[in-house]
Amino acid sequence: MLFRTRFYLDRLLQGTRTRDFKTLYFVPSSPSNKQMTDTASPDPTSRRDILITAALPYANGSVHLGHMLEYIQTDIWTRFQRMRGHTAVWVWADDAHGTPIMLSAQQQGIEPQQLIDAMKIEHERDFVDFQLSFDNFHTTHSEENKACAELIYARLKAGGHIATRTIEQLYDPEAEMFLPDRFVRGTCPKCGTEDQDSDACENCSTTYDATELVNPRSVVSGATPIKKDSEQFFFKLDNFETMLREWTTGDQLQPEISNKLKEWFEGGLKDWDISRNKPYWGFEIPDAPGKYFYVWLDAPIGYMGSHRNLLGDNTAEFDRYWNADSTTELVHFIGKDIAYFHTLFWPAVLEGAGFRKPSGVYCHGFLTVDGAKMSKSRGTFIKARTYLDHLPPEYLRYYFAAKLNNKVEDIDLNLEDFQARVNSDLVGKVVNIASRCAGFISTRFEGRLADELSDPALFAESAQAADSIAEAFEKREYSRAIREIIVQADKANQYIAEHAPWALIKEPGNETQVHQICTLGINLFKNLIVYLKPVLPGIAEQTEAFLNIKPLTWDDAQHPLLNHGIEKFKPMIKRIEKESIEAIVNDSKEDLQTTETNSPVVSGPLADDPVSDEIEFDDFAKVDLRIATIVAADHVKGADKLLQLTLDLGGEQRNVFAGIKSAYDPANLIGRQTVMVANLKPRKMRFGLSEGMVLAAGPGGSDLFILSPDQGAAAGMRVK
Ligand code: MSP
Ligand code: ZN
Repeated sequence: MLFRTRFYLDRLLQGTRTRDFKTLYFVPSSPSNKQMTDTASPDPTSRRDILITAALPYANGSVHLGHMLEYIQTDIWTRFQRMRGHTAVWVWADDAHGTPIMLSAQQQGIEPQQLIDAMKIEHERDFVDFQLSFDNFHTTHSEENKACAELIYARLKAGGHIATRTIEQLYDPEAEMFLPDRFVRGTCPKCGTEDQDSDACENCSTTYDATELVNPRSVVSGATPIKKDSEQFFFKLDNFETMLREWTTGDQLQPEISNKLKEWFEGGLKDWDISRNKPYWGFEIPDAPGKYFYVWLDAPIGYMGSHRNLLGDNTAEFDRYWNADSTTELVHFIGKDIAYFHTLFWPAVLEGAGFRKPSGVYCHGFLTVDGAKMSKSRGTFIKARTYLDHLPPEYLRYYFAAKLNNKVEDIDLNLEDFQARVNSDLVGKVVNIASRCAGFISTRFEGRLADELSDPALFAESAQAADSIAEAFEKREYSRAIREIIVQADKANQYIAEHAPWALIKEPGNETQVHQICTLGINLFKNLIVYLKPVLPGIAEQTEAFLNIKPLTWDDAQHPLLNHGIEKFKPMIKRIEKESIEAIVNDSKEDLQTTETNSPVVSGPLADDPVSDEIEFDDFAKVDLRIATIVAADHVKGADKLLQLTLDLGGEQRNVFAGIKSAYDPANLIGRQTVMVANLKPRKMRFGLSEGMVLAAGPGGSDLFILSPDQGAAAGMRVK
């Protein structure tokens, strides 16, 4: 609470949104600070008031780098707007309702409230450590949000936008309850994949209604659910078709999204079921005991709830942003998976309840790592905290900025490219300029910049780049902004290299020239940091301390620092070493479920064993059996059944713990070939990660026989 209020008061007092952690309050005073204006955009008529949101993370799990892509995108835009002198308020929250949260809490044996409280603390810590400059992080399970949701619902009802209808829903006759989403699983009606969620198929992505599942079963009791009538509330989305058709073709959406929406319009706007039966974790609907708002109703309303919480009693300010005739901006950053909710339901709900509609809904694509969907077994499902354990946030912020644009394209985090790019651009090009010039200023010129630049035209060029870079940030073309910034960095480096102050200083009589060259270098560096500040707030802060200046604003790129005392240069950033990246990947593998034991041997049925139930050919085809050469075999300390094997698959090596110690001396295994299951999900065991399974037959003990291929089989060959 204190945290929030302080920032809010602080902004009111300052009349500026510049809010960088820590620095703001300790600005060293220096006469030459007058050259730098604190607030940019002096024309008050062009000043914008922007309320910004990012999608609310679900409160049932840690956030990962996919989330961070969105949140860093949001933060860069927010910080950029503040640097331009605009009012940019970022309200945000945890999305704390819904069945998955209820289930998750149940599985952990805790109350949902405990779960969401703990998650909120974890999320907020991750976000602060990633240098996100949100103004408030609240929760959808709050008084403010309840009030907003009830108000909106009441207005929608009064406006004739809510229909009550009796529908058939799945009911568990044993547990005697209606089954909410995810409490029913079954076979996909479209493609026949078994054990699918009640709303969508993992295999073919078809969405359906729980009642359409083939062979449905209750997650609660395992019973086959029956269909039972139940009264539910629907939001009449098609009441808003005319408005939506127009609104969705305007500037507030990206063209790709507008096009996608045309398909949705053609499919017809369906009424939206906004209620759920108990048991449900959410807000109970007024005058409808046992009925709750569906999580997606009160989730976007959570943006309002958080804003209310930020503003406290200042309802006039809340109204200024949310009233239908508001002249402020409302901008949402979201991922492509939740576009439907934000571009159809949400504007319609707002309109129906007499509030303003968003001025921008900006949708990004999904994050892949090394070209593929994030994967737990490959160690590329990287949690925000795992990253932070090994690297500072700056690097990832920079890399994401260098890749993000305003399209709905997926973005790849290529770990090798990440390392190379950060080292080359940030360390090699940007910070390098300061470290090359600062030493001379301190040692030769008493820490004071010259009163003239050696090449004012070069500084002017760097200042002129401001408009185009600003336009790129404004349009969320961050990759273009970064490209243009690096062009400026290249020019600066080239200039320093050509004028080699370190060589010049050796000849007497060159002092003034060297002083002016280094002063230019420092000023070019300062401009780079102005442009990079939305992306690299921490480095900007260090630079402000180094240059002994107030927090940089966009306008500061126009004014050189002359005849001004600076501090001694301290290294700001280190190269990324390969080890840090390896450690992140390794630790992400360790996030895997820890299992006490593994059953590393598939024992085939003996003659007197009954043959197991039949399986489909497709089930068999899923098992990737490969010939493997045992290149190393060792005892495992503390394990009485296991041997540790290193298996070669013709290039790739796997570590496997196999329960064959009772039958084999490791020394006799080395060099032999066997058959392994190569696509078994890696398992974390007490002794390490087991990345597959070898096949053996026999009842156990010393009667255990690993399978061996005939001669001619080579490591890596597929067993057919
Ligand atoms: N709780 C909802 C949002 C409610 S907003 C009123 C939700 N939560 S989420 O935790 O699943 O996702 C939060 C945001 O992170 C979404 O915008 C989602 O698109 C984004 N991402 C989640 N995984 C992502 C990637 N792998 N890549 C990029 N963005 C991803 O949806
Ligand atoms: Zn399917």
